[in-house]
Amino acid sequence: MTPIREGGVQTVPTQPFEGQRPGTSGLRKKTRVFMQPGYLENFVQSVFDAVRTDAADGFGAETLVVGGDGRYYNREAVQTIIRMAAANGFGRLLVGRGGILSTPAVSAVIRRRGAFGGLVLSASHNPGGIDEDFGIKYNTRNGGPAPESVTERIYAGTQSIERYLTVEHPDVDLERLGSVRVGGTEVAVIDPLEDYTAVMEGLFDFERLRAYFASGHRMLFDAMSAVTGPYATQIIEGRLGAPAGTVLNGTPLPDFGGHHPDPNLVHAAELVSRMSGKDAPDFGAACDGDGDRNLILGRDFFVSPGDSLAVIAEHAKDCIPGYREGLAGVARSMPTSTAVDRVADALGIKCYETPTGWKFFGNLLDAGLATMCGEESFGTGSNHVREKDGLWAVLCWLSILAVTGKSVEEVVREHWRKFGRSYYQRHDYEGLDAAAAAEMMTELSGSLSNLTGQPLAGSRVERADEFGYTDPVDGSTTSRQGVRIFLEDGSRAVLRLSGTGTAGATLRIYIERYRDDAGASDIEEALGSLKQGVRELLRLRERFGTDEPTVVT
Ligand code: G1P
Ligand code: ZN
Repeated sequence: MTPIREGGVQTVPTQPFEGQRPGTSGLRKKTRVFMQPGYLENFVQSVFDAVRTDAADGFGAETLVVGGDGRYYNREAVQTIIRMAAANGFGRLLVGRGGILSTPAVSAVIRRRGAFGGLVLSASHNPGGIDEDFGIKYNTRNGGPAPESVTERIYAGTQSIERYLTVEHPDVDLERLGSVRVGGTEVAVIDPLEDYTAVMEGLFDFERLRAYFASGHRMLFDAMSAVTGPYATQIIEGRLGAPAGTVLNGTPLPDFGGHHPDPNLVHAAELVSRMSGKDAPDFGAACDGDGDRNLILGRDFFVSPGDSLAVIAEHAKDCIPGYREGLAGVARSMPTSTAVDRVADALGIKCYETPTGWKFFGNLLDAGLATMCGEESFGTGSNHVREKDGLWAVLCWLSILAVTGKSVEEVVREHWRKFGRSYYQRHDYEGLDAAAAAEMMTELSGSLSNLTGQPLAGSRVERADEFGYTDPVDGSTTSRQGVRIFLEDGSRAVLRLSGTGTAGATLRIYIERYRDDAGASDIEEALGSLKQGVRELLRLRERFGTDEPTVVT
């Protein structure tokens, strides 16, 4: 079948692809899957079809933001989206120069410029390259990931799609700032750093942070050859005056230099080793592929994401001008450690518990119920945008260090002395047989009522359930968001399957034990029996041939 041309717009016949349901964070697949003719186009058209009724003048009066983390296929995808957005009648497109925009920067641009929405091209911390991963995510007018009502509409569209719209137009020069017309649409190539830097400047005391570096404090920031390189170079080295060389791996590469741009102790090994020893810098940090995750390190000291969220919430009012009025509330995803709950108690504010995935924070932030939120998966953020924001978390920590004059380790130890410590680990089992993993979860959810009273990890199961969530703002409900097992001794295990993988299944086991011991216990000792108990309960060795996780964070 040949495309139908009408007024410059081509209607291209197409057929549905299976499996285009957006997961925890948009649609993620192997890059080659995305490169099949029509695959990206079908998804993008389904997004436009799903949201057209929310738009003014059939998109004619609306602006769409487009950008990605620079991974392999980013540029080609941007060009495809430009042609399709023009064919679908958008008034204006804002595209980051070079096709680059970090995920929090997309959110900042949407909000500051009153855009209708945005498309983010990224598979986050997953590796990039023709044989690795690619992804696309739609964000709505509030700057945040589309809620499930919208992603389900998009998915329905992908199952019945028969055509997509595009225009014939040569590639737009993504390097040149300024506007060109594609069909009836204005396509503006914008500085990807401008809006984001302005938002940071509005929240943080840049003068104070400059003084921190001017007084000789040293930091290393690892951009992991991904999108935060230019942002960190401009802000940390440029605006805050940290010496050149503070930012490592600062140039975004299509394959992230062959690494996983995943800021954890395993994948940020180079940074971790440079942060060790008595001559190491005062502060170390890293962000992931698209800039929404963060890793926080002191000298020979790792700050777990749950503690990081709690510490930032504890110090925000006193250390960061953007929060000097205090926090309205905080929120964390269910599997995230309960450390922040105790800070919320002390501050006399509410702590909301949501399903995994940033999209669930959107309503709480919009409604002013929560100011800050975070996940155990190295994601922290606040109401300044509607995404988690890696560099923001780094600037929060810099502010805490600058104002308190303490080291990273001292800040955390003081927190543990005051609030006690949640000993916490996440164990990931990647690349499991998907059918066997699904069967295990079905069996487990079927047997939850029998678990109560059973011995586990030297204690007894007090209760076990499947987490469900009712959004306090719009009343929408989400069920089956992970199994929770609470023990009589106050510890907890959470089990769920990942919703972001691109091959097989990933089981995540989250274990937590609270002790009011100023953080003095050894974490392996605190969690050892719980770890073993859960492995045995799930019969992991029998099912999968091993019970050793692939990654522990
Ligand atoms: C993972 C994390 C989750 C995060 C998401 C997107 O999802 O666990 O906290 O929001 O990536 O970055 P999962 O693979 O567990 O579904
Ligand atoms: Zn990410």
